Amino acid sequence: MKGLEAIEADAFFYTVFEHLGYDFRHYSDASRNRRLAAFVGRHRFASISEAQGRVLRDPALLTDLLATMTVNVTEMFRDPLVFSKIRTEILPRLATYPRIRIWIAGCATGEEAYSIAILLDEVGLLERATIYATDIDTESLRVATAAIYPADAMVRATRNYQASGGERPFSHWYVAKYDRCILSPELRSRIDFFSHNLATDSAFGEFNLIMCRNVFIYFEDMLQHRVERIFSESLAPFGNLAIGPRESLTEGGRKLFDPLDRRLGLFVKSRHGRP
Ligand SMILES: C[S@@+](CC[C@H](N)C(=O)[O-])C[C@H]1O[C@@H](n2cnc3c(N)ncnc32)[C@H](O)[C@@H]1O
Repeated sequence: MKGLEAIEADAFFYTVFEHLGYDFRHYSDASRNRRLAAFVGRHRFASISEAQGRVLRDPALLTDLLATMTVNVTEMFRDPLVFSKIRTEILPRLATYPRIRIWIAGCATGEEAYSIAILLDEVGLLERATIYATDIDTESLRVATAAIYPADAMVRATRNYQASGGERPFSHWYVAKYDRCILSPELRSRIDFFSHNLATDSAFGEFNLIMCRNVFIYFEDMLQHRVERIFSESLAPFGNLAIGPRESLTEGGRKLFDPLDRRLGLFVKSRHGRP
């Protein structure tokens, strides 16, 4: 997208923010504008300006825009070595607290939150834990809340779980029904799924672990640093942050968090940094 179209795209996202409160203004241009072009094409709008007028008037189009703008690819125990490190290095520290609070930001369809709940269950910490799992995309949150996944996703989940060092039969956490698997109500009951927009909403509590993986890749540095400050503010002393192994902190973010394992995207709240 070049010249005039790029200007129209900026105007589109400014209007969507001003009138509807969804802020994509500081998402990385390339993928954001590609997604907008796909949205305009799919609905056969003559121009971005026409799309703008229609989105403002039609809530169903806004829902579709949100689904188009967000990438919700995820899986259980994604990057198994990260979960292995959480199991061996982070859970023993969490075990020393009477209450454990975890925030999964950008949880998509919920698999990451359920993976953490399984780790906690394995070591008998689930009853002490509350997991808050948030996303901007309401359709993804609906799937997450239902806790029902296709059976073939469980095949991959089992492989990832074992690669992360898990030793229990994975089927302990779900019942299979036809081509679907229903996760255990015990896992479901420890997770609170709700809508939270990292671009506009503020901190909402104090946590021992925050996971926000594969979300920063869509943000410009300025927006990412806003979120890093919220995370630093929201972590208790010695609290951990997990970002995607292929992501990195901004220059400002590196002052707020010390590496626990940079390669895996694991950090600990710095004792010196200030949000
Ligand atoms: C690629 S998924 C990552 C899912 C999971 N964390 C993982 O690593 O497998 C990115 C998620 O970030 C969410 N997201 C994008 N912008 C967001 C925002 N401003 N606030 C909250 N979530 C956002 C998307 O809706 C999407 O579900």
